[in-house]
Amino acid sequence: MTEDVSAPLAAALAATTEDRLVYDLAGIERRYDTLRRELPGVRVRFAMKACPVDEVLTALARRGAGVDAASPGEVAQALRAGVPAGRVHYGNTVKSDRNIADAHRLGIRTFATDSPQDVAALAVHAPGARVFCRVATGGTGAVWGLSHKFGCPPGDAVHVMERAREAGLVPAGLSVHVGSQQMTGEAWHAALEDLGGTLRALGRRGIRVDHVNLGGGLPALGYRDRHGTPLDPPLDKIFAVIREGAAELRRIHGAPLDFVIEPGRHLVADHGAIRAHVARLTERRGADGEPRYWLYLSCGKFNGLYEMDALQYRLVFPGHTDGPRVPAVVAGPTCDSDDAYCHEEALVPVPAALASGDPVWVLSSGAYATSYTTLGFNGFAPLPYAWAGRPEGDAADG
Ligand SMILES: Cc1ncc(COP(=O)(O)O)c(C=O)c1O
Repeated sequence: MTEDVSAPLAAALAATTEDRLVYDLAGIERRYDTLRRELPGVRVRFAMKACPVDEVLTALARRGAGVDAASPGEVAQALRAGVPAGRVHYGNTVKSDRNIADAHRLGIRTFATDSPQDVAALAVHAPGARVFCRVATGGTGAVWGLSHKFGCPPGDAVHVMERAREAGLVPAGLSVHVGSQQMTGEAWHAALEDLGGTLRALGRRGIRVDHVNLGGGLPALGYRDRHGTPLDPPLDKIFAVIREGAAELRRIHGAPLDFVIEPGRHLVADHGAIRAHVARLTERRGADGEPRYWLYLSCGKFNGLYEMDALQYRLVFPGHTDGPRVPAVVAGPTCDSDDAYCHEEALVPVPAALASGDPVWVLSSGAYATSYTTLGFNGFAPLPYAWAGRPEGDAADG
């Protein structure tokens, strides 16, 4: 399943004469509504790290979403944008004493955890808080596995929750993250099975959690992999596996069990695109003596396309629909060799007539673009952002 750029997004990109990240807010809202229909009864806590833009947070909050926040800074922004504190949880297992105390002071009462040390700190700095323990996953099938830094094995999760109970915290839930841009239903199935086993073990110890947090990992639909092959995630199957798995967990639990999910890229990636321009199309000989084309764009790894070493984005070259194409390595504008699509052998066919200054649209680049941008590495400033369906002047500094 892939998506072409929406008409409002295309119109806004065409109308933009300067480099910008353009979001289609209505598209993000539609994606949210579809997700709610596909997973009835599952509450959405938007992983705001994927797009920490006030208007997006406010629009999703108006539709009933909450936020998965990873720091006191994100908590504060979500609250400012109108997300009620009761719908914000602290989803990062990594936090200092000060982070916990600050978030608690801001009204946060639900925290992720995965270790006895973190539980002990929560008991001191967020006394009585609700905690959910992250169960580790293997990350197989995902573009970004997220498998080492977070979570504990199911057996350890049971001990962590016992420690939480002893420390006066509320052992409220379990969570997983199947890895970002998860491409298989099987990974969800395996994670849900682990959750089932953990719920059973908790039940034997008299711990009855009230919710399961399914984490992130739902895919964007418009990416290509590092070699340029379209990523075609089996979204319908993934939804079916989640629905069936949730029903099975409720059966195992034998008591009311709520579900939340923390989509990041799934909600925003395909509804944001960058209007960039061509810095230069060059041809020069490489170390192997072979001539090679390089297409240098005005945006790259350090100003909007941080994930360009793991993905290829679909590029549109307005005004160059016909004419010969040449195979090129695509790279960003900085003086850093990491600022390029990583596979030199996966060349992208680009119009041979491209000239410096020509517009380029980088599609499905709405996730992790504003957040993973440097302050101005090599003097290339963060991209301002604008909104499809509004006048071009309505841009904010990113
Ligand atoms: C705890 C947590 N939840 C959700 C997400 C969002 O993941 P994704 O963008 O794959 O949906 C992340 C991303 O790193 C995360 O760390």
